[in-house]
Amino acid sequence: MKISIINGPNLNLVGVREPQIYGNKSMATYLDELVAQYPDVEFELFQSNHEGSIIDEIQRVGFDVDGIVINAGAYTHYSIAIGDALKAVTAPAIEVHISNVQAREAYRHVSMIKDSCRCVIAGYGLDSYRRAVDAILTGNFSAGE
Ligand code: DQA
Repeated sequence: MKISIINGPNLNLVGVREPQIYGNKSMATYLDELVAQYPDVEFELFQSNHEGSIIDEIQRVGFDVDGIVINAGAYTHYSIAIGDALKAVTAPAIEVHISNVQAREAYRHVSMIKDSCRCVIAGYGLDSYRRAVDAILTGNFSAGE
């Protein structure tokens, strides 16, 4: 079983960035812990602040892995191109967010990638990623927000 975790802009700063929203734990520490919890899963971890690099990564892994967990950060709200890339590949994708985007500014309520994803998991802090991994492993995509 192979799972790709793709993080978009500013998610490399989780732990430092707005800790009242995103918490104090660094993304690198969290992902190390997550990977350790699933010794039988082969993870592909990727982060970029650049839209085209995220699309290249979706195209690179998207015909090979069993699932994609994607937090596209702010690109979620306006990147039709990332949505199209997720539609183009065969791997099922799950949109994740650390914060509860529906409870934040109106511009964060819109997702340009959700129609390309099996479900959206948001607002559980970093645990949103684990929930998405579990959804891929169990095939239960009804987790929702
Ligand atoms: C985020 C929510 C986005 O609105 C924001 O731009 C981010 C992080 C989240 O994980 O809560 O960068 O995707």
